[in-house]
Amino acid sequence: MRLLALVMLVAAVNAKHEIYKGWKSYIVKPESYEQLEKLGSKLLEFELDFVKNAALDREGIVLVKPEYQAGFLKFLSEENISHTVHVEDLKAQFDLEDQEILKQEQRTRSINGGRMPYDNYQPLNVIYEYIDRIAEQYPETVTLVENLRSFEGRPLKYLKISRDNFQSNKPVIFIDGGMHAREWISPPTVTYAIHKLVENLTEPDLLERYDWILFPVANPDGYSFTHTSTRMWRKTRSTDQHALSRQCPGVDGNRNFDFAWNTVGTSNNPCTDTYAGSRPFSEVEVRAVNAVIEEYLDRMLIYITMHSYGSLILYPWGHDGSLSQNALTLHRVGIAMGEAIDNLSLPSFRRYRVGNSLLTIGYGASGAAEDYAHSRGVPLTYTYELPGTGFGTQGFHLNPRYIHQVCIETWGGVVAGARSAASIY
Ligand code: ARG
Ligand code: ZN
Repeated sequence: MRLLALVMLVAAVNAKHEIYKGWKSYIVKPESYEQLEKLGSKLLEFELDFVKNAALDREGIVLVKPEYQAGFLKFLSEENISHTVHVEDLKAQFDLEDQEILKQEQRTRSINGGRMPYDNYQPLNVIYEYIDRIAEQYPETVTLVENLRSFEGRPLKYLKISRDNFQSNKPVIFIDGGMHAREWISPPTVTYAIHKLVENLTEPDLLERYDWILFPVANPDGYSFTHTSTRMWRKTRSTDQHALSRQCPGVDGNRNFDFAWNTVGTSNNPCTDTYAGSRPFSEVEVRAVNAVIEEYLDRMLIYITMHSYGSLILYPWGHDGSLSQNALTLHRVGIAMGEAIDNLSLPSFRRYRVGNSLLTIGYGASGAAEDYAHSRGVPLTYTYELPGTGFGTQGFHLNPRYIHQVCIETWGGVVAGARSAASIY
């Protein structure tokens, strides 16, 4: 019986990545801005999936479907863009990585003694237990909000953290994570911020000066799906009226905000990873993030949305690469964040790069959270592309042994940004 169960499990694992049959991943390294832009301009045509964002003189990792490989390679050599094959057989690689994940998951996971472990990625229920427990244990400073439910009915939970229950009109810092389901390093950086503000407050000025809103898993359906089914899932799990939607569920949350919606770097096809949705804010998960922005619009000073990978801090405008009125301050505070992270980082990690979203990664995207919040008037809005991949393996995902490190240094970036902003505003 046991053997049968094991065989079935392995069979299920192997069936999971069928869609990646024949796919390959490539390492690409644009060495001029022109090359970076050329790459970006091919995103939709070749349906490229940039798991790791490329930047000028910095390699990226891109997944390519079988039908586009010849064309993509031809394009790369015509443009003289340096490249190598990263993984020859993506399906096999993902199957292999799944076995690793399964093995790790067999180690029991729980919030032992109420603490959130940072030695491994956690399933949604562990993160939610932690959020609940913090709210219960620290009622003077913490308020749990769960007004809305995800498309599949999971609660959308965030914490409000304040010395005086948001009474004294302090500026607000809002951080969300997990908007893109597969970016597993993102939610722990947000729960770690909760930990540092509530359980281990070594920087009391941060609560003196600011009120905080921390939303660790903005896309819980997608996040659960990456744990139970498809590790590389990015979008929500909703269906809409589109003819292809039942067969291809999900909307890219970071293309669904109401800013220049569906104009750049987006797709009308639900079967792609950058589907913008049937309308702006079609996704309840995106509406939940927006509800926080709207509620505190008059005093939100910093908004950060945590993504991966790239070791980048990106700021508006990401749809057309133009600079906002506040570009100088955005850059200055961004640099303070990036430098603080670098100072806490490991030698094997990349230095952070800070800049305008489009100019830094070479492709534009409309309907993104960071642009939307800025367009509504939030002065300082950033997308963090957290560090990941390339530390000794050819794997796609940050080795769990680095989760704690990334949380520590990312929190250092947030602290430095908050202090830098405090000296300006
Ligand atoms: N990797 C992120 C994404 O594709 C980058 C978003 C940057 N922001 C922007 N407005 N383009 O969603
Ligand atoms: Zn992302």
